[in-house]
Amino acid sequence: MKLIICENYDAVMEQAAQITIDIIKNKPDCILGLPTGSTPIGLYNNLVKEYEAGKLDFSQVKSFNLDEYYPIDPENDQSYRYFMNKHLFNRINIDINNTRVPNGNCEDPNQECAEYEKAIDLAGGIDLQILGIGNNGHIGFNEPDKNLQAYTHMTKLTENTIEANSRFFEKSDDVPRKALTMGMASIMKAEKILMLITGKAKHNALMTLLSDNITTDVPASLLKLHTDVTIICDKASYEE
Ligand code: PGA
Repeated sequence: MKLIICENYDAVMEQAAQITIDIIKNKPDCILGLPTGSTPIGLYNNLVKEYEAGKLDFSQVKSFNLDEYYPIDPENDQSYRYFMNKHLFNRINIDINNTRVPNGNCEDPNQECAEYEKAIDLAGGIDLQILGIGNNGHIGFNEPDKNLQAYTHMTKLTENTIEANSRFFEKSDDVPRKALTMGMASIMKAEKILMLITGKAKHNALMTLLSDNITTDVPASLLKLHTDVTIICDKASYEE
């Protein structure tokens, strides 16, 4: 894994944007795997800036998001579909029909997950998968467990994640208890992976990533099996 240590959050987001911009310019019809959360907001702002400056064209880009709460209405302002529209899709010239987020309102989650996985393959696979990481080492909603699942599936949120995500809701009881998420193999199928890590709270997760250990207790540690992973972190997450 390649590690880039930056001074602060803004510098991480600039580097991440540069890598993403280069990929879009080299392959205008590329397929991006996208995360939600507070981490990538700076990256999305930088991509919007580049688009507004007339230097970036998303008209042929396709995207697949990592995950979505279940159940949740896509119109709900806490849904990941809402987040993506607000922070990125509505601000650039991507065709909204080329953006996929698992449907948190579907009637049959198993069918939704199977179709989602198939859609990624049919599109030709993800060129660049951008990831954040949970304090507990989760990626997407692949939570620490004895067993992890390979492909897109429905899963339960851990108490740790419910607690971490409750900051976006009025109270923690409002956080949906389930989610639809790409699995470990769905993520590992991507050509290139870019992991963004910022803030002190992610220090332990980052240290496990940098150690030699691979464990389902820190799902992100499985990324060591991938041959093209770049971690961009800030000093706050890297230093004790
Ligand atoms: P955060 O979430 O960017 O809001 O810290 C990351 C994650 O849980 O994957």
